Amino acid sequence: PWTAEPFIPQSRSLKVLAEASKNCRGCDLCDIGSQVVFGEGPHDAMVMFVGEQPGDQEDRQGRPFVGPAGQLLDEVLQQVGIIRDECYVTNSVKHFKFEPRGTRRIHAKPSSREVSACQPWLVREIEVVRPQILVCLGSTAAQTLLGRDFRVTQRRGDVMKTEWSPWTMATIHPSALLRIPDEALRAKSRGEFEADLAKVAEQI
Ligand code: URA
Ligand code: SF4
Repeated sequence: PWTAEPFIPQSRSLKVLAEASKNCRGCDLCDIGSQVVFGEGPHDAMVMFVGEQPGDQEDRQGRPFVGPAGQLLDEVLQQVGIIRDECYVTNSVKHFKFEPRGTRRIHAKPSSREVSACQPWLVREIEVVRPQILVCLGSTAAQTLLGRDFRVTQRRGDVMKTEWSPWTMATIHPSALLRIPDEALRAKSRGEFEADLAKVAEQI
């Protein structure tokens, strides 16, 4: 079966883990894209954010949440008073998946096999950082960590004690927010996203 397991060293050093992830061949995504995008942030971060998968910019730069979704995340974090550099930011899947369309690379949703294959990396990151607060951005992260039946649309903003963190929450994915075509709906969603992150800020 596809799994990252054999590629993960025993180490609890994020640096060692990040380095090892470059050689992961746990699923077929290892041959797509240009590089692995491992999580980033202090090993003792109080807050961890988990997204879905690196996008085009992340794949180019080798860092999570640096494209349009990352800009939106940064903007809202700043607005609610959370310092991103003090948080650990990562993804459910560490390689970019896309379909070429002309010269553009269009994001493709990771399959559940790819998400499961990559999950051991995420689990190790959580074990090392042991975040007091864990925020799932979007349904891929939420379903990976909170169960296949979890519906972000119905339960965003709910605070839960989970095996991953004493204070776990799922909210809207900033990319999903950016894709809402209707301006009024997009504004409403942004308000909800801000409110969820403001709740996180209150805990810090
Ligand atoms: N979307 C994600 O889920 N993660 C990123 O790093 C960028 C966009
Ligand atoms: Fe390994 Fe995850 Fe990349 Fe698949 S997506 S090759 S499991 S790091």
